[in-house]
Amino acid sequence: MTAEIKPLQRYAVIGNPIEHSKSPEIHAMFAEQTGQQMEYTKILGDTEHFRNQVRDFITNHGYGLNVTVPFKEQAWQMVDEHHGSAKLAGAVNTIVVADDHSLLGANTDGVGLARDLTQNHRLPLTGKNILILGAGGATRGILSALLEKSPSQITIANRTELRAETLAGQFAHYGPVSGIGLNRLPGKTYDLIINATSAGLSGEIPAIPDSILHPGGSTYDLMYSDKPTAFVRWGRERGAYKSVDGLGMLVEQAAESFFLWRNVRPDTQAVLEKIRPGFTTFNPWKPLG
Ligand code: ATR
Repeated sequence: MTAEIKPLQRYAVIGNPIEHSKSPEIHAMFAEQTGQQMEYTKILGDTEHFRNQVRDFITNHGYGLNVTVPFKEQAWQMVDEHHGSAKLAGAVNTIVVADDHSLLGANTDGVGLARDLTQNHRLPLTGKNILILGAGGATRGILSALLEKSPSQITIANRTELRAETLAGQFAHYGPVSGIGLNRLPGKTYDLIINATSAGLSGEIPAIPDSILHPGGSTYDLMYSDKPTAFVRWGRERGAYKSVDGLGMLVEQAAESFFLWRNVRPDTQAVLEKIRPGFTTFNPWKPLG
């Protein structure tokens, strides 16, 4: 009798652009570390054919997908069921394929950020005054997970004030959150300032006054880069206690996706240390030199 050879269980990240995604590298490390037999590749998504690309992948032994820019909202619309993490986010970054091929959509970005802040960087959120810059999809994706940590207040500040007010209104049932225009920021200080705008894509930072960082406060950029981002530099130059980028969030959200797929929790510290040697020992927020 010959043993049946089972095809490798396949996973992938779909996005556009996708070339520079670190997810295949991260999930390969998770799989090796935990002894999981699986493959993880990247797919260049096409806006018009996104649904078919997902369906084709699933037909060809696809067990799960990560979804990144610009498809997270489309993914939210196409899944059959929403995990609690994705309901309010309106965006899905993780698709879990059930045995009957129905799709569960989750959003692990918020949990990833909260874990990076509280566990990797040891920045407690409970009782803190948090400012989020930007009121787009990125902010929507992280609000629930941050509110779950019982901050004193979350303020969303946006260039277009109405967007901030509207978003805050949608989450008002879940905790203390308010929205204002960026130009109305002076006057208050914040323990933690999170940059969730897309300004960094063009090397810019949102127009914010220096005075809003509370003494001993920290700054966090959802973007990450091999070099300090413009916002990380802004925090460092203003004496932030910690000023870090979103690399840890990337690895933590990946770990949460991996857990949803494989029911095994990988060791993120080992992976972070490999991707950015010194991550777990070096204080990346201290002024250099
Ligand atoms: P994402 O899904 O990445 O959040 P988005 O929904 O397009 O993308 O939202 C981008 C966010 O970055 C918005 O809050 C945008 O502000 P507006 O709503 O006023 O457009 C913000 N943003 C982009 N460039 C910015 C800049 N140079 N300064 C300040 N805010 C900026």
